[in-house]
Amino acid sequence: MARKILAAGNWKMNKTPSEAAALIEEMKKTCASDTVEVLLCVPAIDIPAAVAAAAGSNIQIGAENVYFEDKGAFTGEIAPDMLLDCGIKYVILGHSERREYFAETSETVNKKMIKCFEKGLIPIMCCGESLEQREQGITIDWIRQQVKVGFLGLTAEQAKQAVIAYEPIWAIGTGKTATSDQAEEVCKAIRELICELYGAEVAEEIRILYGGSVNGGNAAELFAKEDIDGGLVGGASLKPSFGEIVNYK
Ligand code: 13P
Repeated sequence: MARKILAAGNWKMNKTPSEAAALIEEMKKTCASDTVEVLLCVPAIDIPAAVAAAAGSNIQIGAENVYFEDKGAFTGEIAPDMLLDCGIKYVILGHSERREYFAETSETVNKKMIKCFEKGLIPIMCCGESLEQREQGITIDWIRQQVKVGFLGLTAEQAKQAVIAYEPIWAIGTGKTATSDQAEEVCKAIRELICELYGAEVAEEIRILYGGSVNGGNAAELFAKEDIDGGLVGGASLKPSFGEIVNYK
């Protein structure tokens, strides 16, 4: 079974609700595709406006984070049901910025993964090494650890629906994209780990994205790699020209 390419944007902390609606109106024209799945993960407060703007198009709206409890005294957090009620299916978990600035760990990411599947959300779980870790030669060990802990307790049925985004921290927002061979090496190692944990069928089905300075000029080479099933795109998803990544072929 061929895996469908997923072109996912991560808007991070950019765009107000009205700006989001206006941009999505533009992107409806540039991001149409019958073959690629198109997703924009937007700030939580933008979600209703973004969903309304994207209605009737192929653009799906996702979230950038979710909490691992159903409801209660967790000031400032967003519950899974709140996202589901807005029509959200995908949610990014464990982005390196959340790990660095908001003290997220693989353990909290794991709690969120479990909660997402309990509620019916599909997580896009991020992993990635720092430049120091790459230079120390521990990239694959580190990524295996992040994925193993993130997936603890998930069934094979759940694991095959999850999406993993490999985002080397040194390539995020730097314009310094990993080479397609570097990206493929790690994405392949992730698929091998999933095979060890869940078997060949799950490894064959799970989608693994690359993220880190993806743009219209490098998407085709990256997405052509055997184990790269699309991209998680920051800066280049904030413009109508995101369509060049969607229509990379
Ligand atoms: P850039 O595409 O801006 O490098 O960001 C990548 C990213 O962090 C996506 O989650």
